[in-house]
Amino acid sequence: MRQTVPPTVLVVEDDADLRQIITDSLEARGFAVAQALTAADAHSRLEAFAYDGMVIDLGLPDADGLDVLDEALTRYPQMRCVVVTGWGGAPEAVRAIKRGAIDFMIKPFQLVQLAQVLEAGINERRLQAENAALHARLGDRLSVSGIIGRSAAMQQVFSALELVSPMKSTVLVQGESGTGKELIARTIHKNSPRRDQPFVAFNAAAVPEGLVEAELFGHARGAFTGAVNARVGRFELADKGTLFIDEVSSMSLALQAKLLRALQEREIERVGESKPFKFDIRLIAATNVDLRAMVKEGTFREDLFYRLNVVPIPLPPLRHRREDIALLVQHFVEKSCRNNGLPLRTVSQAALRVLMDYSWPGNIRQLENAIEYAVAVSGAEREILPSMLPEDIRNPEQVSAIGPVTIPEEGVDFQSVMSQIERDLILGGLRKTGGNKRQAARLLNLSRTTLIDKLHRISGSMSAA
Ligand SMILES: Nc1ncnc2c1ncn2[C@@H]1O[C@H](COP(=O)(O)OP(=O)(O)OP(=O)(O)O)[C@@H](O)[C@H]1O
Ligand SMILES: [Mg+2]
Repeated sequence: MRQTVPPTVLVVEDDADLRQIITDSLEARGFAVAQALTAADAHSRLEAFAYDGMVIDLGLPDADGLDVLDEALTRYPQMRCVVVTGWGGAPEAVRAIKRGAIDFMIKPFQLVQLAQVLEAGINERRLQAENAALHARLGDRLSVSGIIGRSAAMQQVFSALELVSPMKSTVLVQGESGTGKELIARTIHKNSPRRDQPFVAFNAAAVPEGLVEAELFGHARGAFTGAVNARVGRFELADKGTLFIDEVSSMSLALQAKLLRALQEREIERVGESKPFKFDIRLIAATNVDLRAMVKEGTFREDLFYRLNVVPIPLPPLRHRREDIALLVQHFVEKSCRNNGLPLRTVSQAALRVLMDYSWPGNIRQLENAIEYAVAVSGAEREILPSMLPEDIRNPEQVSAIGPVTIPEEGVDFQSVMSQIERDLILGGLRKTGGNKRQAARLLNLSRTTLIDKLHRISGSMSAA
């Protein structure tokens, strides 16, 4: 092991020979080992010292080993416990895992394996503790309250936040829906010298195309039909503060040109007015689609892209940082119980496993909603069980556009069936979006160029046929 302080392990085993063999083997691997012969013995040792790990025999003379395990983990939730048991004890061993043991060994087992399991478990715990310490240190310099995550990917996000918050640079936050783009934008503002000035958010996709310009830049009275009163735009509202433009990708090319001009000139004119307004804003933009790909397709202006992409902050989807799921679950359970005035619920191992296995297409927002649902249906139960999770998370459907496949006796031509499916998907996508290639591509998770490529091939083969 690499640590300077040897990891400590308590071996609880009534069989003297086995106890000694385990002790010797662990000591040979660099552990500091303490021994207990009975549950009572283990109890007083646990009272006196926080061991890093424990090896526990479930069949103790004076008590159930599971009770000792419970005591140890209640006292020291971080302790890594491995259960040893004879063949007959397999069901108890499974129960032990559910109660928080990291592994079990059926006698006779390989001593090396026991040491390896403990080593890996304790190493992982130390790493987590170091990350937590890093997080805490970062917390001194940067207020990231409410942003949960210890994964390497999130550490990078925290470093980027620290770097960029004090500056005026434009930031482009990229991430799938629900990955926390707005949260990150607000955090940057909160940590910037502008924190006492306004933070103004504008979602370019939530406003009808024709009104985006007036919303952003404001308009004069009577500037267009329906413009009864003059209106102050978001740029003016955000003056001296931060303007957050969400879903910037949904702006039309014409609007992109206007936004670019405003950013270059650092001034705007209200629609229907020719009095320029000089603004001083820090801009943060967000997108859930790949702007670079849109630039390649010609649907997003390259010059605007470079103006926005000064400091890119990519937010990883939740499925790429599963190690954060347990932390987020804990955070949202606490939050939801607090908000609803309920006593704190725990999450069963089985429920946590379901949550960790799921793919989370809606990312953190979806996880937050799932937990809120589970807390609501938990009723008087203190523990969240798998049955309390939303149905689609418990039983994720394999998304399959095509129904069950039947293969006829005579077999099929694989290639031509595949082309047929491809053709149906492409044409189906276009039909569903009224022929809009960009939307169809998004629907099918293809780039627009790929879709057009395939479309050419399809129409080629149709006219050839
Ligand atoms: N790292 C995180 N820790 C804790 N909560 C988070 C984290 N990231 C996001 N959230 C929470 O998840 C929810 C969704 O976040 P947010 O609205 O910032 O996502 P978004 O990327 O802007 O989503 P959309 O693309 O749908 O607009 C919010 O309630 C937010 O507080
Ligand atoms: Mg958002």
